Amino acid sequence: EKGGYDHFMLKEIYEQPAVIKDTYRGRLHANEGLIKMAGIEDNLQKFLNADRILIVACGTSWHAGLVAEYIFEEFSRIPVEVEYASEFRYRNPIIRENDVVIAISQSGETADTLAAIKLAKEHGAFVFGVCNVVGSSISRETHAGAYTHAGPEIGVASTKAFTTQITVLTLIALRLAQAKGTLTNSDFHRYLQELELIPEKVQQALETNDTAKAIAAIYKDAPNCLYLGRGYNFPVALEGALKLKEISYIHAEGYPAAEMKHGPIALIDEQMPVVVIAQKQEHYDKIVSNIQEIKSRSGKIIAVVTEGDTQVRALADHVIEIPRTVDALSPLLTTIPLQLLSYHIAVMRECNVDQPRNLAKSVTVE
Ligand code: M6R
Repeated sequence: EKGGYDHFMLKEIYEQPAVIKDTYRGRLHANEGLIKMAGIEDNLQKFLNADRILIVACGTSWHAGLVAEYIFEEFSRIPVEVEYASEFRYRNPIIRENDVVIAISQSGETADTLAAIKLAKEHGAFVFGVCNVVGSSISRETHAGAYTHAGPEIGVASTKAFTTQITVLTLIALRLAQAKGTLTNSDFHRYLQELELIPEKVQQALETNDTAKAIAAIYKDAPNCLYLGRGYNFPVALEGALKLKEISYIHAEGYPAAEMKHGPIALIDEQMPVVVIAQKQEHYDKIVSNIQEIKSRSGKIIAVVTEGDTQVRALADHVIEIPRTVDALSPLLTTIPLQLLSYHIAVMRECNVDQPRNLAKSVTVE
């Protein structure tokens, strides 16, 4: 049932090209310039009238929400706030009737997310679910929704759920952008076409496996690891760090690269591996200077670069090359080598990759 893979996690990492395609199949019509999602069309006015979108989720799903925040604000110019469901539900939050709440959950059973949904409904908000498990509690409790088509995710560490959540949320943001006219026609079409190409680029990103494994062998005994990214890839840094800590038990932290100066830079010495997502995109020069700052303090740089990159390559100790895409879609690619890196480190440390200690696949108690 692991399909020839040693672990479910690895199988699920490798399923991503197929399940991303499954998730946009029938919804993304790049040639016609259309996105068809019943849950959105049926409720389009609610989304268009929304003063803001509130996203509630936990863990990796919360990271997908953070990526979505950048995408929604850029594409559809709707203000977005992303909340940990557990904090939101106990904070006496301000929820208005004109708020659209998007709840993201792979399992559809996470207790805090479910409670946040109930609270939002009590306040009259429209609640939209992005779930993977059909018929789950969250899919039933929400007013409408769109499923991810990741298939069963068995590994406790979420991988394909994350990338399919981002796929669904990107489709929604694009549909709203089209309805609102917040993207130019040519940008809109370019995004549709790029999204259609993502599965084959994820397939290419999976070819970094050997490189990731070789890097894993060097750093498997590191006590700490830092992950840095900017913009769309800041949440990917958080997700990379979560993946490493939950399956390898190495202490890892993700930060927006520019925050480094405000504290974490004190941690950097020759013992500290720093994974930097350094794509050739907006603010590239900023990330290059962040890398220089780490180098001058003898930190070890593992950089996830765009293919053909030379500038970061000259500075980094290790590079992992992935294909180029538009900035907004890059998290779907940059996250792949980070999943592989964590996987190999955990295997080399003889950890229980699919069922890490202390963790449950779905957290049905708060
Ligand atoms: O099923 P959900 O998406 O609601 O689960 C949320 C988190 O419990 C989950 O993403 C958790 O953080 C994973 N173990 C991360 O890999």
